[in-house]
Amino acid sequence: MAPSSRNTRGRKYFIVTGDKVTELEREVIAGLNSVAGPAAFFIPILKLFNRKRAESLSSLKKLFSSMQNAFDSGKHPVLCGAPAVICIASPNSNMQGKDDCVCSEQYLMLYAENIGIASCINGFTQIAHKNAERFLGVPKGYTIHAAVMLGYPKYSYRRYVRYGEDITWIE
Ligand SMILES: Cc1cc2nc3c(=O)[nH]c(=O)nc-3n(C[C@H](O)[C@H](O)[C@H](O)COP(=O)(O)O)c2cc1C
Repeated sequence: MAPSSRNTRGRKYFIVTGDKVTELEREVIAGLNSVAGPAAFFIPILKLFNRKRAESLSSLKKLFSSMQNAFDSGKHPVLCGAPAVICIASPNSNMQGKDDCVCSEQYLMLYAENIGIASCINGFTQIAHKNAERFLGVPKGYTIHAAVMLGYPKYSYRRYVRYGEDITWIE
């Protein structure tokens, strides 16, 4: 039901369940570390030109390697033990492919909520999308732009959190 640019509906959905979720997580963590590892080589040089960027790269490298350690000790720092993960890919030829995927992801999350299934976006899988694509057998020419964890919620909440948003009224 989600809209798509020019109504092309060119998205592909990959539904991962059971032990495959853990295997996907292994691939994603490997992908995160393979990006951060070589980039870290340039941190001392980057520090001279852009200190903030160098610091954020260095903290990401630490985060990703701590995720690897947690995963190796049997924890699930990225996919959080979710029973299901859905990845959404779109063709690279579609300039608005990313929008199509995110749009569909949001529809999916709202619908899931309606039928009692909790969800959470997984940005890490989006960052390490190349590893996820290889693992899931995503056809060449497609990119994963959205990944969402799903499962029956362990907790229920009495109230929603009210976040402040920056809204400007033009009247
Ligand atoms: C682009 C994006 C990436 C996100 N990636 C992750 C993630 O990798 N892991 C995670 O647990 N939550 C992730 N989230 C969920 C946010 O942390 C969460 O929505 C936010 O903290 C607000 O919490 P709420 O959705 O419960 O209100 C992501 C959210 C967005 C929009």
